[in-house]
Amino acid sequence: MTRAVLVGIGSYLPDNIVTNKDLEARMETSDAWIRERTGIAQRHIAAEGQTTSDLATKAAQRALADAKLQPQDIDAIIIATGTPDFSMPSTATIVQKNIGNHGAMAMDIAAACSGFVYGMTLSKSLIESGQCKRILLIGAETMSRIVDWDDRGTCILFGDGAGAVILEAQENTPRGIIACAIEADGQYNNILQTNGGVSTNQKAGVLTMSGKEVFRHGVEKMATATQDLLAKQGMTLDDIDWIVPHQANARIVQSIAKKVDVPLAKCIMTLDNHANTSAASIPLALDVAVKDGRIKAGNMIAMPALGAGLTWGCCIIHW
Ligand SMILES: CC(C)(COP(=O)(O)OP(=O)(O)OC[C@H]1O[C@@H](n2cnc3c(N)ncnc32)[C@H](O)[C@@H]1OP(=O)(O)O)[C@@H](O)C(=O)NCCC(=O)NCCS
Repeated sequence: MTRAVLVGIGSYLPDNIVTNKDLEARMETSDAWIRERTGIAQRHIAAEGQTTSDLATKAAQRALADAKLQPQDIDAIIIATGTPDFSMPSTATIVQKNIGNHGAMAMDIAAACSGFVYGMTLSKSLIESGQCKRILLIGAETMSRIVDWDDRGTCILFGDGAGAVILEAQENTPRGIIACAIEADGQYNNILQTNGGVSTNQKAGVLTMSGKEVFRHGVEKMATATQDLLAKQGMTLDDIDWIVPHQANARIVQSIAKKVDVPLAKCIMTLDNHANTSAASIPLALDVAVKDGRIKAGNMIAMPALGAGLTWGCCIIHW
């Protein structure tokens, strides 16, 4: 049986760091409030002129180097982003040009903060069906460009960054993507959205959110998606070594851990350093935990996410 195996990973955070203290000087908030309500200490913000494709390109190059592969070894480039460089062409084709690949299929997928899990699901199908041999999957965002910096209820939550993985078709291996499940329910469109769009008012708009509702759905749907997917595989949370959840808010992760009854120590959290980077957050956290040695060969990892749409889902990988 063909499996989609992760053979390379890389990430990139912009140099410019904005701490909670920096925000105190710009709005009525406090480091203590932000840390206590969210677990966030700082966020990285793209420099003027630095675009989502620039962040994605750096993460992609690091993932290629990690996999010891050349750009031309890739036959699909998929970018999960809600903050593309342009409405067209796709950010994926811009990254394709930047890294020097010719001929791979290239597309963006829009599933907000669940984008990486959606991309993993698509990649699994493309590889297992024999259509692709090696996929470069990237989550990349410049959330700083769509937050309202005058809205303390939302702007403190987000940051910019990119994470990339390379998935390769391999035979007869226990490693790789074991299972994925993704869902959406458009009836919740309005609890997390931007107030702009190409077809609506030709503006990018800024993010608006019902924080408490998103929090509640985040806990419930990420916990249920994880439990249901494991049950379908005949697995339980005891089989999982690490949960690498979407990095939105430490309290959401704590509540998920409590709901599914796993020790918080099993949950990888890096959001204190980079805040919510939407589709980039899971590969960013995964990269940190792989590089610092927490995630080891043979580990079983669950990656639940929830984002605007609402979209949500989970995937399980054998590292
Ligand atoms: C946004 C969030 C941190 C707010 O936390 P909360 O406990 O729900 O806080 P509330 O919105 O009830 O606000 C409580 C008070 O803090 C104030 N407040 C809001 N933002 C603040 C800030 N940055 N600094 C200080 N005070 C703030 C509010 O104005 C409110 O004041 P009031 O009681 O005088 O009206 C929380 O709802 C959350 O994390 N939601 C999920 C968001 C998310 O993850 N979205 C992306 C998912 S992909």
